[in-house]
Amino acid sequence: MASEIFEHVDDYIRGLVGAEDDALKAADSSIKEANLPPISVSANQGKFLQVLAKTCQAKKILEIGTLVGYSTIWMARALPRDGKLITLEFEPLHASIAKKNIERAGLGQIVEVRIGKALDLLPMIVANNEGPFDMIFIDADKPPYTEYFQWALKLSRPGTLIVADNVVRDGKVTDTNSTDEMILGARRFNDFLSASSAVTATIIQTVGSKMHDGMALAVVN
Ligand code: SAH
Ligand code: DHB
Ligand code: MG
Repeated sequence: MASEIFEHVDDYIRGLVGAEDDALKAADSSIKEANLPPISVSANQGKFLQVLAKTCQAKKILEIGTLVGYSTIWMARALPRDGKLITLEFEPLHASIAKKNIERAGLGQIVEVRIGKALDLLPMIVANNEGPFDMIFIDADKPPYTEYFQWALKLSRPGTLIVADNVVRDGKVTDTNSTDEMILGARRFNDFLSASSAVTATIIQTVGSKMHDGMALAVVN
């Protein structure tokens, strides 16, 4: 089975370049302990985000959708000491667990968890002139992905990298008859991305220990 090979190779890659330290292991465990869904990025995807953040020489990162801060920790570790990562989370419980995980990782000074609906928080970030960000990771609820992307553009400069998770969904994104709101949200986002002249974009499929999915990568022109 292809999925077994993908998982086997994902383990192999993790053994080489995707090892979790105690703080990342604790963050991962906190998902199960709080009975939350296991929907954080995988270790290798976290490392991938970290490599992207380094490639951007990011000093300021915005994340939409924190869960327990697992992807947050991977990305924040690419930042310099005076860097800043703002992450937006709607669920107060998720945010409070994330804050503990981020503290444990020694990133309390660099990461700020903001609690609220992303569509309420993003206009405030624009109004407060907190942009532009060097990298923006979209990974919250899927129906408003297009709106998140539009806010991300407002918070960007030429060269900003915008990454959106879960835009393939086990291949279901190609099903034009789907009524699943997550698929519809991803499709609408992908269509908007393809029509946007504001970015140079691609979509990569992701396989491994998590389900077959994909990430959109868009560099602002
Ligand atoms: N980026 C995380 C996973 C995020 S899961 C990681 O890879 O480790 C998606 C998160 O988005 C959940 O915690 C969910 O509560 C949050 N979320 C859902 N709707 C939201 C909204 N409207 N605004 C902000 N966060 C939201
Ligand atoms: C789901 C959300 C995610 O961000 C993810 O990476 C995987 C699954 C979900 O809501 O099902
Ligand atoms: Mg995701």
